[in-house]
Amino acid sequence: MNLRRMTADDVASVVQIQQSITRQEVTARWRNMLASHVGNPDGPGFVAEKDGKVVGFILGEIKVGGFGSELTGWIEMMGVTPEQMGAGIGRTLAKALFDYFKAEGVQEICTAVLWDSGDMLAFFKNLGFDRSPFINLKLKVGA
Ligand SMILES: CC(C)(COP(=O)(O)OP(=O)(O)OC[C@H]1O[C@@H](n2cnc3c(N)ncnc32)[C@H](O)[C@@H]1OP(=O)(O)O)[C@@H](O)C(=O)NCCC(=O)NCCS
Repeated sequence: MNLRRMTADDVASVVQIQQSITRQEVTARWRNMLASHVGNPDGPGFVAEKDGKVVGFILGEIKVGGFGSELTGWIEMMGVTPEQMGAGIGRTLAKALFDYFKAEGVQEICTAVLWDSGDMLAFFKNLGFDRSPFINLKLKVGA
């Protein structure tokens, strides 16, 4: 497996992985969000390649202040192509992002998971994550 930073040429493959996980077309906004992680030091993106094919991705963000430490690394989104799940790709992608965060001076890594997403919770728990002292709040401002 080859791990490397995501480039503009990977966008189409990552879109395909996301669509195969969610079974929905991604929006133009989603595609733009993805592209914003190319060459962005505070919003790094990594991909995993197997036999020359992109099989997984992870997107992160470094936030300055506001979460109890000077720099917080966030896992924004990740995905592994369904046929390759459970083969260590997710763990390897997470390690690449965590190494990047650490090299940038990040001391805490956070993420948010849907409360009923048992597979994501099990995965993150396996990587050593635990419940954070923060709770997510939301306010509906549209229909
Ligand atoms: C969650 C995900 C990123 C994990 O990547 P992966 O390559 O399949 O996971 P890995 O093989 O690296 O697993 C790492 C560890 O987490 C555990 N784990 C992974 N998926 C798990 C699951 N579904 N249930 C329980 N444990 C799980 C593994 O047992 C493994 O532990 P081990 O190393 O002790 O055996 C990947 O399965 C995925 O993309 N799932 C779909 C995500 C999704 O539905 N997203 C919603 C849309 S954004």
